[in-house]
Amino acid sequence: MSQPRVLSGIQPTNGSFHLGNYLGAVKQWVDLQKSHDAFYCVVDLHALTSSPDPKELRQNTLTSIAQLLALGIDPEQSTLFLQSQVAEHNQLGWIMECLTGFGEASRMTQFKDKSQKVGNDRIGVGVFTYPMLMAADILLYQADQVPVGEDQRQHIELTRDLATRFNSQYGKTFTIPQGYILKEGAKIYDLQDPTSKMSKSAESMSGLIEILDTPETNSKKIKSAITDTGREVHFDAAEKPGISNLLTIFSTLSGRSISDIEAEFVGKGYGDFKGAVAEVVVEYLRPVRTKTLELLDDPVHLNAILKAGAEKAEVVARKTVAEVYERIGLIARG
Ligand code: AMP
Ligand code: TRP
Repeated sequence: MSQPRVLSGIQPTNGSFHLGNYLGAVKQWVDLQKSHDAFYCVVDLHALTSSPDPKELRQNTLTSIAQLLALGIDPEQSTLFLQSQVAEHNQLGWIMECLTGFGEASRMTQFKDKSQKVGNDRIGVGVFTYPMLMAADILLYQADQVPVGEDQRQHIELTRDLATRFNSQYGKTFTIPQGYILKEGAKIYDLQDPTSKMSKSAESMSGLIEILDTPETNSKKIKSAITDTGREVHFDAAEKPGISNLLTIFSTLSGRSISDIEAEFVGKGYGDFKGAVAEVVVEYLRPVRTKTLELLDDPVHLNAILKAGAEKAEVVARKTVAEVYERIGLIARG
């Protein structure tokens, strides 16, 4: 029996993923690859919308791939690839743009937020067409499900609208994908400001756990996490956001239930608890960091993995583009 297909993408905007990226997104990717035919890509073309420095883009792209492998994406089980290495993304992207209304694209809140921030004269057209390229990423592979965070819900809706529109205009071509919106429980908050989500754009990095930071740095950050009034280690997101966030992290990384952890710390203080969380995080991330650095140290091996992934992806993507070209009246090269 063939398995349902999932596709997801992550931007190589940062050197290291943070704990929020891992627990909120990548961990689900790793779990899904066992039960699904999984396609995962690092969306380096999307990253161009923020005009990264070329050297940094290259480094961050390789680091993203190495981290995905170290965190458990298995290239034998999943198709792991770089978006820019499969030219069909651009080919279908253009067709998606021709299918999208200007008003429709203008309503995307991510675009609206960004263009309001920097102004119409400075915002790139790539930020505007970003969702159409994302639709192409998904539709090329006839994905059934797309695991993403809540912030991407509107882009998935647009993708579904475009696929439905294409199918009714030109005949059934695309699978209509479903968003697989990642659970709120997987949201990780800033250690210093536990009402904001953990993010690279926070003012201070002291509340951010980076996968590739040293064990010493991460241990220190957790031990200095802000806690709440009271002394009990008890989950209460409204009254005790700091302790609740640490409980979520502890529980997801250790596989233990929240109530089991609460029971262990009855009668003990926040200090003991934070020490235990630090230990769990550090021991979880230690081999991931080592493996990532090892992979980055062997570019020949890493490139071979990328090449194999792109070749696997291309087979599927080519077939879709050929069908689309035929349907819309482009002439196949003889
Ligand atoms: P970003 O680079 O912020 O766009 O994040 C990439 C992925 O990680 C997206 O799927 C986000 O939903 C997820 N993510 C980012 N920050 C967090 C967080 N603090 N908690 C849970 N998931 C997150
Ligand atoms: N826009 C997504 C984000 O910022 C990244 C992305 C690009 C993506 N193409 C995709 C996610 C296709 C899922 C499927 O998180």
